[in-house]
Amino acid sequence: MRTETPVTIRLKDYKQPDYWIRHAELTIRIFDHFTQVESHLTIEQNGTGHLPPLVLDGVEQDIKEIELDGELVENFSYENDRLTVQPVKSHFVFKAVTHINPNENTSLEGLYKSGTMYCTQCEAEGFRKITFYLDRPDVMATFTTRLEADKALYPVLLSNGNPIDQGDLGDNRHFAVWDDPFVKPAYLFAAVAGDLARQDDTFVTQSGREVSLRIFAEHHNAHKTQFALESLKRSMKWDEERFGREYDLDIFMIVASDFFNMGAMENKGLNIFNSAAVLASEETSSDDRFDRIEAIVAHEYFHNWSGNRVTCRDWFQLSLKEGFTVYRDAEFTSDMHDRTVKRIKDVMFLKNHQFPEDGGPSAHPVQPQEYIEINNFYTVTVYEKGAEVVGMLHTLVGDKLFRKGSDLYFERFDGMAVTTDDFVACMTEVSGQDFTQFKRWYTQAGTPTVRVTEHYDAENQQYKLAFQQHCKPTPGQTEKLPFVIPVRMALLNSEGQDMPITCDGEFNEQTQVLTLRETTTEVVFSNVSEKPVASLFRDFSAPVRVHFEQSQEDRLLLALRDGNAFNRFDAVQNIYLKEMLALLNQPEQGVSEVIDQIVKASIEDADLSNAMKSVMLTLPSYQLLMDNVDVVDPQRLIAARETLKKHLAVQFAEQWAAMTQSLASADDYQFNAEEAGRRELQGLALSYWVNSGSDDALSYAEALYRAAHNQTDRLNGLRAVLESDETERQQALLGHFYRHWHNDTQMIETWLSMQATADGVTVEQLHSLMEHEAFDIKNPNKVRSVVGGFAMNFKSFHDEQGAGYQFVADMIVKLNAINPQIAARFVKVLESWRKFTPMRSEQMQAALTSILAASDLSPDVLELTQKALA
Ligand code: ARG
Ligand code: ZN
Repeated sequence: MRTETPVTIRLKDYKQPDYWIRHAELTIRIFDHFTQVESHLTIEQNGTGHLPPLVLDGVEQDIKEIELDGELVENFSYENDRLTVQPVKSHFVFKAVTHINPNENTSLEGLYKSGTMYCTQCEAEGFRKITFYLDRPDVMATFTTRLEADKALYPVLLSNGNPIDQGDLGDNRHFAVWDDPFVKPAYLFAAVAGDLARQDDTFVTQSGREVSLRIFAEHHNAHKTQFALESLKRSMKWDEERFGREYDLDIFMIVASDFFNMGAMENKGLNIFNSAAVLASEETSSDDRFDRIEAIVAHEYFHNWSGNRVTCRDWFQLSLKEGFTVYRDAEFTSDMHDRTVKRIKDVMFLKNHQFPEDGGPSAHPVQPQEYIEINNFYTVTVYEKGAEVVGMLHTLVGDKLFRKGSDLYFERFDGMAVTTDDFVACMTEVSGQDFTQFKRWYTQAGTPTVRVTEHYDAENQQYKLAFQQHCKPTPGQTEKLPFVIPVRMALLNSEGQDMPITCDGEFNEQTQVLTLRETTTEVVFSNVSEKPVASLFRDFSAPVRVHFEQSQEDRLLLALRDGNAFNRFDAVQNIYLKEMLALLNQPEQGVSEVIDQIVKASIEDADLSNAMKSVMLTLPSYQLLMDNVDVVDPQRLIAARETLKKHLAVQFAEQWAAMTQSLASADDYQFNAEEAGRRELQGLALSYWVNSGSDDALSYAEALYRAAHNQTDRLNGLRAVLESDETERQQALLGHFYRHWHNDTQMIETWLSMQATADGVTVEQLHSLMEHEAFDIKNPNKVRSVVGGFAMNFKSFHDEQGAGYQFVADMIVKLNAINPQIAARFVKVLESWRKFTPMRSEQMQAALTSILAASDLSPDVLELTQKALA
């Protein structure tokens, strides 16, 4: 345990370190009950003059020996996770021999045991749990790493870079030496020791170099690595073509680990993945899992340039690598599959998760100004909103200049640790545009709202749009200055076709983008021969909320005819949302006709792909609904959404039945956008069909489950059964699932989350689930399946007794002692307490307060809980 009280770190206090580490030579000796780490760090003073003390980070280091230039040092201090020694020269070698205990390391940060293997996770500040270091990203060194371990138990020994030596040590032990010639910060360090199966391949880069590709997994998972390997090759090729980025080392490795706090980690040449984010088979992985694996493999690979070759100066720049890399992986997925569908899913994710974060007590800018625990800032704001900001830069400069700017960025800052300002400066330099005001997107938190009003003057054939932007205060930021907001737009005629645009605003004809810079902007369009229907914010060209009181007729035209498929979807969502809000306020009034009209049209539209149909027929989530009401009364939200869902289920029961049947396929499983779209739509149709109350639907669902040869069909069947109220049938299927799949880690995780997300699950049931042999509180994936799944289960989580809230709070306290990072993630699900009706609000607040009463709270949990209550 740390003894100090949590300290706030501020961006404005950044200064360079007193010393640089140029080279790190590590030997990691793994023994049964402890691990010895011997490090030789080549250090030099940053600057000249009198020599300040050398202060190194180190957590839970059992010191055996400290030396400076071969001389034993006895005069050092080690307290509050910092080692202080006094150098006597400006260039020297620091040596430390320490013992650490990976077997007891349940935080899964630093070196730890995952099942039978050892692995590491160093980002953000885990390296200091391995050895003493200047553990900050602006300190970049080359690394040589030697691993020693038992030969039989750990035949595979891996680290960053290229393998340069290996051999026997006697005593059944062996060693391997890896050398990484590229300078990197310690957060990109990795080491693995295990008995692992390996799948090999090669990739020839654009300049003709052959790179070995290797994916490692535990033996029983050896058959699940093919898809990730293919994804990796696609990513490598794409990054060459789209961004001109070639891979640099001779070898690229991925290791799958069952115990992992996040999705994956981009360690140089040695990515370590949560096994759930890399292992795939049609038997055990659903289509969305395949999608996710491909995207994460790409994301981590892309970091080799956006993150590793060019890294962050300090952790306030996290979005420099994460926002940009999320942007890059989204572009990759769009190119591989269906651009519009990818955009729709990303925007839904942003609205469901980032908008609430931006509107709540933990709102922070894409570039935070301060933090207590950096691990708390791996957020949807830094990642997904950060990617939107990069996307807006792209929108503003266009394809060609964006590529030119990114080339300049990679070239100029290769091997350096830089800032988001440096990135934007490259875009300024290539485009000549001034992004000073634009940079407010990095520094101001909160989601701006844009209010739009329109006026058509038939006589003068003029159409006027007035935009007014406003951003509510967020914690610590009361005053907001206007943002630069790119509005990609068109004016539609009554046929739904784009009309030519002439206007007096800052309008770019090529990109069809109107740029807003002021609090209010009025734009006059001339030669407009009929009253147009404005299609605004096409493809969600800015992360804003839009209030535009268009007529129902106009909305309908957009929903049915807009040439921009994203905006068609958006119009439909708005109609559903309005309907649900109406049902919320006047439940007795019934569902309006326009809904049936849209649903019918979407079902029948032969031009829509199945994937598009599926998103067009999906009702907005509870999250989105919550985001659009002032006070959340869960019962009323549930009633409104269920009324609409039930209405559609019954009204179109025949169509759902017909669709379910016609979308069935007996062909072999293929993962591609078209097939995945077909299965997705079938799952949706089946869900509606079951909700119509049909017994045939339930039998169909069960049969689909039982006959399935792939996980998507299986889960479509199972989910539909879990939506019914046939408890016996549900128990039978869940029992069957467990009997068949209890030896498969991914299937167990699915089995747990299926139950935690099922309709009507109770806290008692969660408790028995956690007593089941399949559960392990030390395993983040299992905890996420149960606790995370439950928190997404709107109906059960908001159960009237408030038991759901207290359950989560109790789990946070329990997890705090085991794995603070995982514990802290769940605080977020309670932070919106102010938005609820009084009883719920009090219950949630009480749950949060009960966390603070626990002793030994980690900085992770403390920071977020205090913020949530502040
Ligand atoms: N950099 C990793 C990624 O690609 C994630 C690291 C998350 N670290 C953390 N402490 N939460 O997104
Ligand atoms: Zn990342």
